[in-house]
Amino acid sequence: MLKVVVLVSGGGTNLQAILDSIGDGRIRNARVEAVISNNPGAYALERAKKAGIPALCISPKTFENREAFNRAFLAKLDELQPDLIVLAGFLVVLPKEMTQAYSGKIINIHPSLIPSFCGKGFYGLKVHEAALERGVKVTGATVHFVDEGTDTGPIILQKAVSVEPGDTPEILQKRVMEQAEWVILPKAIDMIANNEL
Ligand code: GAR
Repeated sequence: MLKVVVLVSGGGTNLQAILDSIGDGRIRNARVEAVISNNPGAYALERAKKAGIPALCISPKTFENREAFNRAFLAKLDELQPDLIVLAGFLVVLPKEMTQAYSGKIINIHPSLIPSFCGKGFYGLKVHEAALERGVKVTGATVHFVDEGTDTGPIILQKAVSVEPGDTPEILQKRVMEQAEWVILPKAIDMIANNEL
């Protein structure tokens, strides 16, 4: 059974997709051990609690500096001993110590077809704003392994989504979530848990 720890910062719809997929068998042989947020107000923490999963918050604001926060975060992960760490809308850049310690064991969902609209500064709604500004007709989502760079690790799965006339960043974000993110993130976890990569 793959032990998964999910890191979140916000609404947690991708976390919900993971929990629902474990519930209905689309993800086999995996369980969510804990959910950790950097943001105490993240609704994702409520979703975890509702599912009976330990929900923890480690906020950078409660530490004297970034290094102390990074150390505490890594110590918590080491305590949980995850087989897989899933960044599901986790908007904190991981320190090198963490990407090295868990090399090949961290995956991220990004709301575009990498290498478009990714890297530093491209997160959440900003990704969709940039896609609409550029006028692309197709966008999508990517699940990839996390390395030391921002959105640079090996790609696991991608799914394309059409941009429609009249789309706003919010409308496009919702379509990309529904048609791509909530499909390929659970699928990637299922593939990893069942040695199908
Ligand atoms: C998702 O769209 C995810 O792809 C994005 O943040 C959103 C989180 O939503 N992640 C990034 O932009 C990472 N660079 P959620 O909290 O409802 O899952």
